[in-house]
Amino acid sequence: MNVLVVGGAGYIGSHCVRQLQAAGHKAVVMDSLVYGHRKAVSPETPFYDCDMADRPALLEILKKEQIELVMHFAAFAYVGESMSDPLKYYDNNVAKPLSLLQTMREAGVTKFVFSSSCTVLGEEAEPPFTEAMPLRPISAYGQTKADVEVILEYCAKAYGMSAAIFRYFNASGANEAGDIGEDHDPETHLIPIAIQCALGQRKQMYVFGDDYPTPDGTCLRDYVHVDDLSRAHIAAFPKLEEEGVLLKYNLGTGTPASVLEIIKTVEDVSGLPVPYELGPRRSGDVPAAYADSKKAKEELGWEPQYPTIRSIIETAWKWHKAHPKGYDDRD
Ligand code: UFG
Repeated sequence: MNVLVVGGAGYIGSHCVRQLQAAGHKAVVMDSLVYGHRKAVSPETPFYDCDMADRPALLEILKKEQIELVMHFAAFAYVGESMSDPLKYYDNNVAKPLSLLQTMREAGVTKFVFSSSCTVLGEEAEPPFTEAMPLRPISAYGQTKADVEVILEYCAKAYGMSAAIFRYFNASGANEAGDIGEDHDPETHLIPIAIQCALGQRKQMYVFGDDYPTPDGTCLRDYVHVDDLSRAHIAAFPKLEEEGVLLKYNLGTGTPASVLEIIKTVEDVSGLPVPYELGPRRSGDVPAAYADSKKAKEELGWEPQYPTIRSIIETAWKWHKAHPKGYDDRD
């Protein structure tokens, strides 16, 4: 399959490109490089520095590369920022994908894969989260993901478009080769922050709240390896051959880990201390979020190859240790 990976120079997109290539598909990358890294894409991979809302340029790429399926990873994903600047998020995460879908229609490309998020579900949802739970996001970020999910439902019915929606839990880890990995600026995610502390790049970190109703009082999350996410996406391709199909899958290991467990595992894997202090709760954090991924397992035959938090952190550690400055492409 000829696949256009929008946001293919970002963290999850770049891993998906490698998995597509390993599975024998042709991956073409389009990325505006606002957050993506050119170095995350191999020189042999066709690359277009282009915004998804640039309709004439996108139309030309779709035709020239004979694209059959589009994967969209180019969302902004800072939940806090989405609350202070919602229009930025509605523009990039809703208006631009809308333009992308319109251009796909114009080009006659009917297959779409969308990276959604567990944040489309509400605070009151009881984990483990299933696909059947209603959309009740509590952040502008989560709302933009929910909006695109709904748009895709209508497009599938009206135009016969076939789409797969994947709701990620906490994407983490890095590819086994150790040459691509997580590099965000600013970094807000727990695992890279704990690793930066182990490496001495940060003096210490804060644990955001230890008074949650969880076994050790810190938040529970479902950390899932970025390559496992990509494999699920590719496993859905045969199902997208059917016209007008709309698929929805939760992707997580289903085994939650607490903030303190993550810190302890980073210490074990690195053999180095992670200095931390207890801090106040971070606004918007739910006590526990983890997936019921039964549907992906049954329908796609998906099985995480990194089922334990240790196996995931080992790959993250390898990447960060070898690339202490990430892609080292900032001014
Ligand atoms: N945490 C800390 N200290 C830190 C950073 C995080 O205690 O310095 C805690 C958080 O409070 C939370 C847990 O670690 O309990 C995980 O936090 P992350 O920021 O790593 O991840 P989130 O669960 O908040 O966010 C996840 C993804 C985001 C995505 C969001 C919505 O990691 O990329 O879900 O999909 F945007």
